[in-house]
Parts: sequence; C-alpha cells; structure tokens
Amino acid sequence: MSTDDTVLQKVKIPTHIAFIMDGNGRWAKNKGLDRSEGHAAGADVAEKMVRACNDIGIQYCTLFAFSTENWKRPGEEVEFLFQTLIYYLEKKSPEMIEKGVRIRFTGHIESLPRDAYECARKIEINSKQCDYFQMIIALNYGGRQEIWDSVLRMFNAFEKGELKAEDLKNDQPEMFRNFLNLPDVPDPDLLVRTGGEMRLSNFLLWQMAYSELIFTQTMWPDLDREALINLLKEYSKRERRYGGL
Ligand code: IPE
Ligand code: IPE
Ligand code: MG
Repeated sequence: MSTDDTVLQKVKIPTHIAFIMDGNGRWAKNKGLDRSEGHAAGADVAEKMVRACNDIGIQYCTLFAFSTENWKRPGEEVEFLFQTLIYYLEKKSPEMIEKGVRIRFTGHIESLPRDAYECARKIEINSKQCDYFQMIIALNYGGRQEIWDSVLRMFNAFEKGELKAEDLKNDQPEMFRNFLNLPDVPDPDLLVRTGGEMRLSNFLLWQMAYSELIFTQTMWPDLDREALINLLKEYSKRERRYGGL
C-alpha cells in the first residue's frame, strides 16, 4: 500500500468539493509570463484535480471557471479563457465520458460566445447518462444570479398553478432547492479557494450555507494531488455541527 493510500484511509472524503480556481494571473506574473499562460497552466491543473478527486472517491466536483463579473476583464483575456475551455473540453471530454464522468454546467452558458456554448451543450448532452462522477463547471455563473433565476422559476411555477400560495406559506426554505440550477446536486461539503483571497466572489451563495471553507495561499496552477490530500486532512479535522452540539 502506498503512503498516499494509507493517508487516504484516514481522511474524510467529501461527497462534493467546490473550487474557486483563483491565482492564475498572479502565478504567471510571478514567473514573468503573460496572464494567458497562467490560464493555460490553470486549465491543465483543473484537469488533474478533477482526475484526483474522482480517484480519491469524491463524487461531485464543481469548478468556478468564469463568473458573471469576469466580463469586466479585457476582451482578449475573456476570449482566451473561452478558447482554452473549448480546447480542453474537446480534447479531454471523450475520454472522461468513456469513463462515466457526467459533465454539467451551471450559469448562463447561452450568453457565451457561440462556439463555447455549442461545445458545452454538446458535452452536457453526450454525458447525460454518465453516473460515475460529476464534474460541474460554473460558467458565466453568479450566486445572486442563480438565486434570482430560482425566484423566477418559482414564480413561473406559481403562475402555472403548479405551486399555490398555501404551499409557500407552509413550506420550509429547503423547498427552494427545487428551483436552483441543479436541484439534484448536493451542497458542497468543502469549498477550497486558492490564490489567498478570503471571499466568496458570488459563488454558490445558497448552497454554501454549511460548507466547510478553506482559503489557501497556493496559486491555482501550483495545486497538485499532494496539496489536495493536505486540504482533505484539514477538512477531516473540522467538526460539522450544523448548529447542533
Ligand atoms: C482565476 O485566476 C481564473 C479566472 C477568474 C477565470 P485569475 O485570473 O483571477 O488570477 P488572479 O487572481 O488575477 O491572480
Ligand atoms: C473568482 O475569481 C472567479 C473565478 C475563479 C472564476 P476572481 O479573480 O474573479 O475574483 P475576485 O475579483 O478576486 O473577487
Ligand atoms: Mg482572481
């Protein structure tokens, strides 16, 4: 048994891990490289981390790839981010789908450049039946946008008569889950943000009510399997009380 296996036997494995993949630009700058090279390195690492998560026994991995606020960046950088994403998805998704990985998206992908949208939709459809592991890519995603969209879906159900005012009065906040982008996906047990910033930047606001949060100084392109295992060790020490004793 490898040291890695022995360590893994002792750590708690989250069902769902979410990553805010931050620090690509600073990683590149520190090396005297262009920001785009940071994003290219970051995409490589994203693929490796998804593989490691799957291998370790995690069932859902959500990656924050592009926020509703990231449109504020220079057009060139935005374009490069989508082109990198398409390149990786085209190259890697057939093998992932073969292995049973379901690839899903959360966020307004219909507003992406046409080629990126079509690529995402195609992969989502092709991997729909896969149930071994789920990789969720948050793309043109904002937590407030998702809450707003959920309210609109709820209102729609109300207008269609599928939901009654009485139901709303009697139901618990938990029923709101049914209107989220991906109602069947469990809340993240663990959120990891790389790059040293201690904020959520509008990620999964509703879903993270009770997630364990880890902020690490490591820049995203420097994350590796060993670092992930160390993060899981840290997670294993957390006592999740959910308000109880
Ligand atoms: C995260 O890295 C990638 C995206 C937001 C798409 P950044 O590009 O934010 O890198 P820093 O934070 O500038 O270092
Ligand atoms: C968060 O990183 C979004 C993604 C990783 C996609 P940002 O770099 O956009 O976040 P801020 O601007 O530091 O809050
Ligand atoms: Mg950043």
